[in-house]
Amino acid sequence: MDIQHSLAQPPVVILREDYRPPAWLVPETRLVFDLDAHATRVHAILSVTRNGDHGEPLRLDGAGQTPLSVTVDGIAIDDWRLEGEQLVIPLSGGQHRVETEVEIAPDRNTQLMGLYASGGNLCTQCEAEGFRRITYFPDRPDVLSRYAVRMTADKARYPVLLANGDPIATGDLDGGRHWAEWNDPFPKPSYLFALVAGDLAVNRGTFTTRSGREVALGIWVRAADLAKTDHALHALKLSMAWDERVYGREYDLDVFNIVAVDDFNFGAMENKGLNIFNSRYILADADTATDHDYDGIAAVVAHEYFHNWSGNRITCRDWFQLSLKEGFTVYRDQGFSADQGSAAVKRIEDVRSLRAAQFPEDAGPLSHPVRPDAYQEISNFYTATIYNKGAELIRMMATILGPAAFRAATDLYFDRFDGTAATCEDFVACMEEASGADLSQFRLWYGQAGTPRVSASIDHVAGGGRATLRLAQRVPPTPGQPTKRPMVLPLKVRLFGAETATPLTDERLILLSDADETLVFEGVTERPVLSINRGFSAPVIVESDRSAADLAFLSAHDDDPFARYEAMQQLMLDTLVAGAIEGRADHDAVIAAVAHTLDDPDLDAAFVAEAVLLPSDAFVGDQLALVDPDAIFRAREALRRDIGVQLQDRWRLAYDRAPAVPYVYSPTEKGKRRLRNVALGYLAATDAADVAALAFEQFRAADNMTDRQAALTTLVNGDAEERQAALDLFYARYADNALVLDKWFQTQALATRDDTAAVVTRLAAHADFSLANPNRARSLIGAFGVNQRAFHQADGAGYRFLADQLIALDQLNPQTAAKLLPPLGRWRRFDQGRAALMRAELERIVATPGLSRDLFEQASKSLE
Ligand code: ARG
Ligand code: ZN
Repeated sequence: MDIQHSLAQPPVVILREDYRPPAWLVPETRLVFDLDAHATRVHAILSVTRNGDHGEPLRLDGAGQTPLSVTVDGIAIDDWRLEGEQLVIPLSGGQHRVETEVEIAPDRNTQLMGLYASGGNLCTQCEAEGFRRITYFPDRPDVLSRYAVRMTADKARYPVLLANGDPIATGDLDGGRHWAEWNDPFPKPSYLFALVAGDLAVNRGTFTTRSGREVALGIWVRAADLAKTDHALHALKLSMAWDERVYGREYDLDVFNIVAVDDFNFGAMENKGLNIFNSRYILADADTATDHDYDGIAAVVAHEYFHNWSGNRITCRDWFQLSLKEGFTVYRDQGFSADQGSAAVKRIEDVRSLRAAQFPEDAGPLSHPVRPDAYQEISNFYTATIYNKGAELIRMMATILGPAAFRAATDLYFDRFDGTAATCEDFVACMEEASGADLSQFRLWYGQAGTPRVSASIDHVAGGGRATLRLAQRVPPTPGQPTKRPMVLPLKVRLFGAETATPLTDERLILLSDADETLVFEGVTERPVLSINRGFSAPVIVESDRSAADLAFLSAHDDDPFARYEAMQQLMLDTLVAGAIEGRADHDAVIAAVAHTLDDPDLDAAFVAEAVLLPSDAFVGDQLALVDPDAIFRAREALRRDIGVQLQDRWRLAYDRAPAVPYVYSPTEKGKRRLRNVALGYLAATDAADVAALAFEQFRAADNMTDRQAALTTLVNGDAEERQAALDLFYARYADNALVLDKWFQTQALATRDDTAAVVTRLAAHADFSLANPNRARSLIGAFGVNQRAFHQADGAGYRFLADQLIALDQLNPQTAAKLLPPLGRWRRFDQGRAALMRAELERIVATPGLSRDLFEQASKSLE
């Protein structure tokens, strides 16, 4: 079907197979910035060299600006031309000095790509293609250049001037202006360029690398936030030590700076020596940040720091290779976080977010391989598939190789490709070379989209000694990939005896590589219970015929904590699916299993809290042929209430056993708070008369945001009179704290109430709501989009609201608008009535005049 589009130009599709090496290289770049919020002058001096024997002109990417002057080897020329937004300069020799000058307006940059203003300061975001909005340049990741940067700016407004690399010199100028020069000795692609000019305070620290280099660390924020930067600084030091210890990677410059800004399109950016962060991933204190926020800060600080090797020292040849740096770096930050606390709980959290974000993406119209073949707008490919499924691919290779060979392989990779722009294939080849493993079939994971499904069943003849495990795999069709080949699935498996409750076998790593396979276990003298995909060793969906009794058994006796959690989840899912389809279900097995888990003295609180949580509405929906949001909600509420009521004494005990103590962020205290708040949630489901008062008292007395927000959530989901009081108190207390106000919006957008769609529509007109700030936009619109029941209100009010907001947001910030579209694209999963309403909104978006390439790509693909 041809989609009627409203773009100024027809969409251009970029293909991986069209990759060609750059015609010109730029070994040296000097940038001179005359900084000003309204009008910044950028003078770029590029030394360019012809790459190979060809007659191509020099092509420099630009966006939104026009050249004020172009000179070649010091002489102004006028035979340059613009082709689209590219500046084309004919050059005769093999080496030239090309200079351009442009003027840009940071304070009118609402896209937050390139040089922009945030909170009175100036900052940059260049990945993926923002550098071309600053100056003309071959804005592609395989052109590595050494940068020297000079900035001049008003000294009172912008006392701090930062850029990549090392500070060289500073000085004062007439008229209240000053200047600073920075040099980055490491050749880098343009997407890693950064500068910051602003009025900032710094939390300084030092780190001494294992070879004795002393690194000056700085976390730069507005002065009022300085007290909230210790956690980030601490996490940075831990990350630097961890990367030395676990991957042998040492930091390579004398300074490492992080700047926090309030207006940011995503989490953070790994610019060489000058990371720029969304302030939500830097600022924390007990009063304003939850445990979850603290975890997120440490993970993102680590992630960006780890990019110094997996991303900066070795970058990507082209953007199709994005997962080379992102998948690997997510894998690395997951390992870091696992080492800070409970590895089992971290794995559970990571799998939960994979299932919440990546599985649905892979099952929908925007499904794409970890190494895509085509894109219209690269910003749309910073996805859960590239990041999180990409990390799972690295994890599978690590599992297949084992720890020693995996480390040898990453050493080889870092060594061989240091200073270059590499490909996913280069990485896999190192994995093979260092280990001797044959990963030829494994490579399909990079090219085939879709979540594989594995069916597993086990046969055992009573009284016999042999068990037969039958496995089959199927990779579903995805857009552009109707048929798939079998992949290599590393499945960790173990059998337990149903009677003795002891292991019957060791853990075995099965590499399932055919469509069907049968495996035989000998010496199985009692009925075996199958524990499969232990540790979530492969990112697949396992379909097994295990009974409720066997799942309950595993949830109590499996020795792999992830498998225990998983068995409980499966038991809950089966129960919820039955409840949604039949309107009622037997809750006894779940309730008994939850009771058993709560009673087990050997389990830590953090694990228990994860294990007893019900799967989300959305995850239940993913199990059904068609999603019925109301039936799922009813089934889930009924089960929640039953668990609450029948185990009420245990929830009270769990709640009281973890009394509030002065806030400490540590794995143990975090786990206790988590379990206490899960208990509060189940108590609230009982409708016991005192629970609202209990929640309100917790809300009022809490000395930390974790407990305060949990209590607020409990109240906001209910109808008690304390509800509005808590919302008002929260608002009044945090009215001038943007990050906490985001929570106020988000909690209401996530509420499990009948009026949520109406409330959200009203909140969009609130004086504190703004589409210009991505965090705020996401806190309301993004949260609402994942509130399955509210968003899918049968009259389509939620769909209309989202489309209205996205059309408005697209005018300001296409990238952030496009990110929020996917919930509308799930129409195939819903009944005809909802599907028609969703399609109508997608069509309305696609037909909007002046639509961005970003939103067009997502909306039009969602209609196909
Ligand atoms: N490289 C950054 C990170 O992983 C994210 C950049 C996102 N860019 C984008 N256009 N969405 O931390
Ligand atoms: Zn990253």
